[in-house]
Amino acid sequence: MIEQIQDIELTTLNRLALLDNAAFGIGGLNAWHLAPLIRHGRVFVFWQDSEIAGSVQYMLDWDHPDTAYMVGITVDQRRRGQGIASKLLRESFHSLRQQNLRLIELTVAPDNVVALRLYETKLGFSRTGYRENEYGAGEHRLVLTLNLSRH
Ligand SMILES: CC(C)(COP(=O)(O)OP(=O)(O)OC[C@H]1O[C@@H](n2cnc3c(N)ncnc32)[C@H](O)[C@@H]1OP(=O)(O)O)[C@@H](O)C(=O)NCCC(=O)NCCS
Repeated sequence: MIEQIQDIELTTLNRLALLDNAAFGIGGLNAWHLAPLIRHGRVFVFWQDSEIAGSVQYMLDWDHPDTAYMVGITVDQRRRGQGIASKLLRESFHSLRQQNLRLIELTVAPDNVVALRLYETKLGFSRTGYRENEYGAGEHRLVLTLNLSRH
């Protein structure tokens, strides 16, 4: 089941921070990032067996109000390869589209082949940019964009 998180609740915040920390280490979201994203952005989670199996977060692009920037997506390591990310993204896109969002933009490491297959091959994102040292020295990122009206 996919749900948009709307309340700040300690267990949920901790679970989401743990998920991100396991996947990204220092680059992961913590409670201080997650709380404003829940209140002012959009955070969707995938529930499996009463546990949060995955999460995706979005913020509005100030300069392009028809664009949602996807801050990140993480699926619990033990639950990967079951289609959870695909379902989470498709359902969240549907919800964003209903809220008049037109484009999704995200950044991804050029060597993250699993994520690139998911975004490009499975969901139809296109490469629209490349940002050197985006998150620090050597942390280059590809920029990917998806037009929701074609999804
Ligand atoms: C990227 C991630 C979210 C994918 O989650 P997932 O639930 O395992 O993905 P899905 O099961 O929905 O798979 C979707 C597609 O991803 C690709 N994929 C998934 N696992 C893969 C693997 N081990 N090898 C290659 N491609 C893979 C495939 O294209 C797959 O579609 P297919 O099964 O029809 O071929 C997950 O691996 C993750 O949390 N990684 C760490 C965090 C991360 O890198 N996030 C993205 C940062 S931009």
